[in-house]
Amino acid sequence: MKLILMGPPGAGKGTQGEILEKKLGISTISTGLMLRTAIKEQTEVGKAAEKYINEGKLVPDDVMVALVKERLSQPDCEKGFILDGFPRTTAQAEALDAAGVEIDKVLLLEVDDDVIVDRLSSRRECSKCGAPYNIKFKKPAKEGFCDSCGGELICRKDDVPETIQNRLNVYHEQTEPIKEFYLAKGILAVAKGEDALEDTIANVEKALGLGE
Ligand code: AP5
Repeated sequence: MKLILMGPPGAGKGTQGEILEKKLGISTISTGLMLRTAIKEQTEVGKAAEKYINEGKLVPDDVMVALVKERLSQPDCEKGFILDGFPRTTAQAEALDAAGVEIDKVLLLEVDDDVIVDRLSSRRECSKCGAPYNIKFKKPAKEGFCDSCGGELICRKDDVPETIQNRLNVYHEQTEPIKEFYLAKGILAVAKGEDALEDTIANVEKALGLGE
């Protein structure tokens, strides 16, 4: 299965990607996570990407296409993959096509903007191991600290109200139009992403025809 997860910031792409990765036995490639790692390690890509991410803007297409092409050439991608956060522009979608990557399904998680703001304002991550939490929806056992490594839980730099709004605007202007691109190819599947987690998992499985 070569799958793309699409949806607004905070739609649950990372959450569903983790679940699908285990279910399907293929790797998830999260471009957001790759960029945050690159920033932490202060690589050339990280240095170039940092200001765009902190302002809620998209990193330039040429940087992203090169990064993803290199990742897809690695052996674990031969049996399939889940792309989380790529493509995000029509140019990125066309570059995947031009590289001969044949996608089986594009799953669009639909969530209203109001729900997004609520989810992202309450999201936290471990400052040590990066494990994801949410102070409303996925609480740690001990408030403020990671269940796995005890690290302090912090807010992502781009999860502040003004940047969340910028990210939503960018999504509606630059990413949402890709829907039409994949609809025309007949591979777009849509799932409601704003139900409770267990229900959303069921919505995703149904949309992808899994477990039938
Ligand atoms: P990226 O990391 O991809 O951020 P995003 O798309 O904004 O998505 P998020 O990671 O914020 O959310 P998500 O959809 O994964 O939701 P999650 O599962 O965490 O990208 C960051 C930045 O990198 C971009 O802004 C851009 O600058 C740059 N970038 C990345 N890719 C790029 C590209 N291709 N081109 C250019 N630039 C690029 O869930 C969110 C929260 O909600 C969590 O707390 C979770 O616990 C909770 N939650 C999830 N599902 C549910 C549910 N059903 N009910 C209740 N709570 C839920």
